[in-house]
Amino acid sequence: MRISVIGCGYLGAVHAAAMAKLGHDVVGVDVDAAKVDALAHARAPFYEPGLPELLAESAATGRLRFTTDLSEVVGAQVHFICVGTPQKRGEFGADLKYVEAAFEGLLPHLGDGDVVVGKSTVPVGTAEDLAQRLADAGPGATLVWNPEFLREGFAVQDTLHPDRIVYGVPEGERGEKAKAILDEVYATPLDEGIPLVVTDFATAQLVKVAANAFLATKISFINAMAELCEATGADVTSLADAIGHDERIGRKFLNAGLGFGGGCLPKDIRAFMARAGELGADQALSFLREVDSINMRRRVRMVDLAREVCQGSIVGRSVAVLGAAFKPNSDDIRDSPALSVAAQMQLQGARVVVTDPQAIANAQEKWPDLTYAATAEEAAKEVDVVLLATEWAEYRELDPVELGTVVRTRTIVDGRNVLDPAAWRAAGWTYRALGRP
Ligand code: UDX
Repeated sequence: MRISVIGCGYLGAVHAAAMAKLGHDVVGVDVDAAKVDALAHARAPFYEPGLPELLAESAATGRLRFTTDLSEVVGAQVHFICVGTPQKRGEFGADLKYVEAAFEGLLPHLGDGDVVVGKSTVPVGTAEDLAQRLADAGPGATLVWNPEFLREGFAVQDTLHPDRIVYGVPEGERGEKAKAILDEVYATPLDEGIPLVVTDFATAQLVKVAANAFLATKISFINAMAELCEATGADVTSLADAIGHDERIGRKFLNAGLGFGGGCLPKDIRAFMARAGELGADQALSFLREVDSINMRRRVRMVDLAREVCQGSIVGRSVAVLGAAFKPNSDDIRDSPALSVAAQMQLQGARVVVTDPQAIANAQEKWPDLTYAATAEEAAKEVDVVLLATEWAEYRELDPVELGTVVRTRTIVDGRNVLDPAAWRAAGWTYRALGRP
């Protein structure tokens, strides 16, 4: 099939390359000429494991190209909208300006029988509005809502082998035709037996935010337990293991620590609350306010713990922060708990050095006042305390004996509960963690 993908960020770039891998003929469109240039040369404009290989493989087939010219979508039958929906400045709601621009830009190029597929995470009601406007504009195209659930760091795998595929389609013959076209787009994963849920617009839009709200709630639940563990001397990692053995609960997403960040969970739960308020259903989601505040408290707790191990004051103390990305295997620093802790520590008078295997360039751009080092060893040179903020594999595998030779004081705060306390203590370190004795 001939496919266009509008918006080539974390979502669209991977989606475009994956669609070409599935055998489709794909054009990716983005307003950012530098991004288009990189993608056109099979270079990923951000760090995502497996993406460079997928881009190269798809480019070699001649089925994948990128452009800044939206008119090049003409000839494609299916048009995916993959633009971002960031949080509005100073408000909880989602900013739909990129969705608006993509939709309005696409309209004049649509033909009869085309399918416009919304993938961006939007406030429920957006699809209905766009479908109406599409009908009013009259090109004979149909809108479908097909949310995306990919995780950064696993985006290629999640796109090619998703846990499920969801379409929200309009009722009647128009909806059936559009469904048949999407079935063709996703023929390979559907043949592999990936579950398909076909539903209405409202449900399809809600599925995405409901899934993210559940994941955020799971993380904040275990972080609330971490607070109780700290108050009682219990160990939240053993607690998570024990409750996680119950299949109804499950161990995944029960890792207590610095909490969630990134471009999705924080802004999605806020936009969800804002939309519920507009719908007069704010009470239904008032618990998400608590989920958000438990999450934000983790960052404060991390700074407090650092202060505690520095005998009550961090003024003038040297601190190494391991990690800048919001999670490992990503260079994304949006709402990064690691950088928020680093900035807070610096604001409170500490001398902070941040390191990260992939995210330093992005961090430097957004937080130019912080100091950066290329490696953990360099960052930790002569410091009073080391903070592990993002659980990259290379930080999990740090040798406490070796690192102990470069620091001034052997003190580490494990913000992700990934180090072995016994090994670090045996090497002479004071080991502290969130939610562990
Ligand atoms: C998330 C959803 O998982 C994905 O389905 C959706 O499409 C987009 O949002 P992502 O933002 O890439 O994906 O990251 P995710 O792996 O969900 O992690 C989010 C944050 O939660 C990270 O900061 C991570 O460190 C934190 N986290 C995750 C925890 O603190 N504890 C956990 O147990 C799991």
